[in-house]
Amino acid sequence: MTKTFGKVLGLISFITIILILAACGNGAGSENGPSSDSSDSSNGSDSGEEKVLKLATSADFPPFESRTPEGEFEGFDIDLANLIADELGYQLKIEDMKFDGLIGSLQSKRVDMVMAGMSMTEDRRKNVEFSTEYNRSGEMFISKPDAGIDSLEDLKGKTVGVQLGTIQQEGAEKLKDEYGFEVKKLDSANILIQELKSNRIEVGYMDKSVAKGYVKEQGLEGFDDPTTSSPGMGIAFPKDSDLVDDVNDILKKLEENGKLAELKDKWLSEE
Ligand code: ARG
Repeated sequence: MTKTFGKVLGLISFITIILILAACGNGAGSENGPSSDSSDSSNGSDSGEEKVLKLATSADFPPFESRTPEGEFEGFDIDLANLIADELGYQLKIEDMKFDGLIGSLQSKRVDMVMAGMSMTEDRRKNVEFSTEYNRSGEMFISKPDAGIDSLEDLKGKTVGVQLGTIQQEGAEKLKDEYGFEVKKLDSANILIQELKSNRIEVGYMDKSVAKGYVKEQGLEGFDDPTTSSPGMGIAFPKDSDLVDDVNDILKKLEENGKLAELKDKWLSEE
């Protein structure tokens, strides 16, 4: 009787241990989402052979990211993302969304990383992880050539368009009372340019490296923001993502082998 009881007890403990071990095994790794295991970069977003790196961007921001008339993604960030995916041995999948939704897509782990000319602000750092800096750009105010807007003082009484969720929105809101202008928040940089061209806003405020392109292409004018102190741009990841170290190593490698400089020459060099 006692013997049988002992055996049953033994069996139950054995099964319990097996179940606990199995549960641990399943749990580990799933916590950080798809691309979480840095010790084994073969751990892709999808199970099986296909290893997918999900990138989100806001493709309204040439020369960093935009869409060709055929709908293909192109730009500095896109080329860099492809190089990174190649190095990691992942297939790159790009999702286009509003800039304002990018941080949320990382927080919900819907995507593995974001490249969108995103400035690495302290506020964003509270919610996402950043790579090392890969580019730096100041800010610029742009307007139609006949508008006569050449300084902060000229912004008085004007409406300044900014892209929703950007550091320019934040910056403009800080300056608006001092210089007496209105801020209009717009979903995309493309809409901002349309609004400017159709006189619904008088001024646009955006990253200098992007503004310069629009100035040239659309025959606009602009002046540098003398107050700017924006942080550099980086790649953003969900908090605790194991991809950060791998990607930083790759960025370092691309810097050392000159590939990053090549990309900058290709997309960002124009003065
Ligand atoms: N650098 C600015 C920021 O981080 C604007 C970035 C906008 N990017 C875009 N793809 N539209 O807030």
